[in-house]
Amino acid sequence: MRLTVLGGGGFRLPLVYGALLGDHAEGRITRVVLYDTDAGRLAAIARVLADQAAGVPDAPEVTATTDLDEALRGADFVFSAIRVGGLAGRAADERIALAEGVLGQETVGAGGVAYGLRTVPVAEEIARRVARVAPGAWVINFTNPAGLVTEAMARHLGGRVIGICDSPVGLGRRVARALGADPDTAFYDYAGLNHLGWLRGVRVAGRDELPRLLADPGLLGSFEEGRLFGADWLRALGAIPNEYLHYYYFNRETVRAYREAERTRGAFLREQQDRFYAEMERPGTPALAAWDRTRAEREATYMAHNREAAGAGEREAADLESGGYEQVALALMRAIAHDRRTTLVLNVRNGGTLSVLDADAVVEVPCLVDANGAHPVSVSPLADHAAGLVCAVKAVEREVLAAAESGSRDRAVAAFALHPLVDSVTVARRLVEAYTAAHPGLAYLRR
Ligand code: G6P
Ligand code: MN
Repeated sequence: MRLTVLGGGGFRLPLVYGALLGDHAEGRITRVVLYDTDAGRLAAIARVLADQAAGVPDAPEVTATTDLDEALRGADFVFSAIRVGGLAGRAADERIALAEGVLGQETVGAGGVAYGLRTVPVAEEIARRVARVAPGAWVINFTNPAGLVTEAMARHLGGRVIGICDSPVGLGRRVARALGADPDTAFYDYAGLNHLGWLRGVRVAGRDELPRLLADPGLLGSFEEGRLFGADWLRALGAIPNEYLHYYYFNRETVRAYREAERTRGAFLREQQDRFYAEMERPGTPALAAWDRTRAEREATYMAHNREAAGAGEREAADLESGGYEQVALALMRAIAHDRRTTLVLNVRNGGTLSVLDADAVVEVPCLVDANGAHPVSVSPLADHAAGLVCAVKAVEREVLAAAESGSRDRAVAAFALHPLVDSVTVARRLVEAYTAAHPGLAYLRR
C-alpha cells in the first residue's frame, strides 16, 4: 500500500509515520511518498523519519518529491495536510482580525474565514489533480479549516475524500476516562461541524452515561473541557461542547486574552518552527530529539490563552502525548483497506444525518467505515441553539466556496459579515481590504 502525503514537509508528519511504524499487519502501508512545495522542509522531515525508522526492519520506505503528479501517481491513500501561506499567513490572519477587535484564529471566526478563502482554491486544484491522476485513491484531509476544505474537495471527489480532526476523539477519550469507561468501546453521540460540535451522549454497554457526568461537578472539573467551560455552563447546555466552542461561548474573554497576549498562536508557532527547520539544516543536529522537544513544547502550549482566560490551568499529562491525530488516520486507513468495520467521528457529506442541513454539506459525525468509505450513522437531532450555530457557520462556509468559485469580493464580505463572531458589516468590509492587501493568495478576489 502506498501513501502520499501532501504537505510532506509539515511538522506533524512524524506522528503519522510513528503510527505507521507500529503497524506490522498484512496489507499495511509499505511506501510513503512525501510531496511539498518546499524542498528544505521535505529534507528536514525526511531526517526525522529516518531517525524514527532506524532499527525497524519493516519500516515503510520513504521518498520525497516536489512534483505533484509524480507524488500522486499510484497512490492508494493521499493525506492532504497543507498550509497555504504558511505560518506567516496564519499569524497575519490572527493579527488583522484582532486589530479589528474580532477573533483571529486558524479555524474560527474572521481568521478561519480568511484561511478558508486562501485554502479552498488550492485544495480544489489538488482535488481535480487527484481525480485525474489517482482516481482510485482515498483522500484523507487534515488541512484546516478541515470541514470547509473537505466540502470543497468533495465537489470533485465525492465520498472519496474524508476529513479528520482529533478534537472529537480527544473529547470522547477524556469524557470516557472521567466516567471510568473504556474509551474504545463507548459510542459517542457527537454531531456538528468541524470545531463546532457537541457531545450529547456517551453510551457504554447500551446505557447513556453522560447524565451521570453532568450531574457531578467534581467529575466535570477533572478534564479539559469541564475546566474550560465550567460545570454550571455544561449542565445548562446538557452537552459537552468541542473545545473550539470556547471561542463562541466566551468570545469576549478569548478575544481579550488573544489581544493581550505577547504573541498570537500563529506567531509563536512561526518562530518555533523557523527555529526547528533552521536547526535541521545543521548536519550534526539529532533530528528526532530536536523534533520531539519542539513537539512537546507545542503540545504544552496548545490553547494556552483559552485556558488562561478560563483559569483552567495546565493540560493533563495524558493530553500531552498526542495519539489522537495519527491514530484516527491509521484506524481510518485500516478500516478502508481491510474492510474492517470501525466507528469513527469524521467529516463527511451529511446525506440525511442532520435534518437542518442539505445532503452535500460536510458535517462531523460518527461514521461507520468499511471498504466502501465512511457512512454517517444516525445521531440525535441538534438542539435549537446548536442547529442555529451550525446553520449560520455552514452559510459562511458556502459564501467562502462561492467567493472562491467566482472571485467575488461581495461574497467574501458576506462570508465575514455573516459569521456569528463578526459584529458589523463595516468590519467585514475592512477585513476583506486588509486581508487582500496582506495575502497574495487572495489576489483572485477581484470582482
Ligand atoms: C487540534 C486541532 C487541529 C489543530 C491542532 C494543532 O488538534 O483539532 O485542527 O491543527 O490542534 O493546533 P496548533 O495550534 O498547535 O497548530
Ligand atoms: Mn482539528
